[in-house]
Amino acid sequence: MIPPTEGGGRGHGRPAGEPGLARAAELIRDARRIVVVTGAGVSAESGVPTFRGREGLWRDHRPEDLATPAAFHRDPRLVWEWYEWRRSLVGECSPNPAHRALAELQVRKEADILTQNVDGLHALALERVGADGVVEARLLELHGSLFRLRCTACSWETSSREPVDASSEATLPHCPECGALARPGVVWFGEALDRGVLEEAFRLASSADTCLVVGTSAVVQPAASLPLATARAGGVVVEVNPEPTPLTNLAAVSLRGSAGEVLPRLLEG
Ligand code: OAD
Repeated sequence: MIPPTEGGGRGHGRPAGEPGLARAAELIRDARRIVVVTGAGVSAESGVPTFRGREGLWRDHRPEDLATPAAFHRDPRLVWEWYEWRRSLVGECSPNPAHRALAELQVRKEADILTQNVDGLHALALERVGADGVVEARLLELHGSLFRLRCTACSWETSSREPVDASSEATLPHCPECGALARPGVVWFGEALDRGVLEEAFRLASSADTCLVVGTSAVVQPAASLPLATARAGGVVVEVNPEPTPLTNLAAVSLRGSAGEVLPRLLEG
């Protein structure tokens, strides 16, 4: 493990190790309301690729070819093929100790998870700690889910883990209600997030005492502004990431380490 360091003292990037961890644990323990903002890094140790960085998906693929409404319009088969590859890859992955520690935190405390991830692993972790019914409403999937399908023409949508046959345009999934082509239930570049989900996310971030930010490069808006909403309302930000990010300077404590190793220690009982 890369030892936790504190890019804290509002971002001076000095190593802190255990003191940084202890301070962050205190900020979480003392908080009445917590929001957790997560990104692809929280699932990295489950085997789900991140987007940016050396091994990231956007290194070999261009988002404008695969993750925009124009790309889908141009070549729905290619886009579905890529999403089906990701669905089958993620379908083999399980929640890691970071997802589990966060699910356990939600059972103990008032904590909402606002995730940019579309892999469904937070929900699976909640199911596994037996808390899915209790705290289902406290997980917002800001960018949708790989395991949702929706109609390109009407309001039909569904959850499905069934494989999609992307061998030709004719075999792609179609809406059972109006017959139009179905699309992955995710938010693409150039699309707005669901307005209700977004408003709720900012309401929760603004009313939290502590915002824990895990495994996001914090460059994609509007999710990257959620920790700012907590800070503007007088709360504190705690970050867990092996690398510094644009949020590091804002964080009271920034712990350098992997989510799967840091979170179980940070959030223990
Ligand atoms: P990124 O791939 O941009 O960033 C992943 C972050 O996770 C980086 O800051 C890494 O340093 C960090 N990281 C890597 N391994 C980690 C580990 N084991 N533990 C903790 N952190 C780790 O992913 P996101 O910030 O989630 O949007 O990207 C945001 C959005 O951009 C995604 O939701 C997606 C993407 O394009 C859409 O597709 C609309």
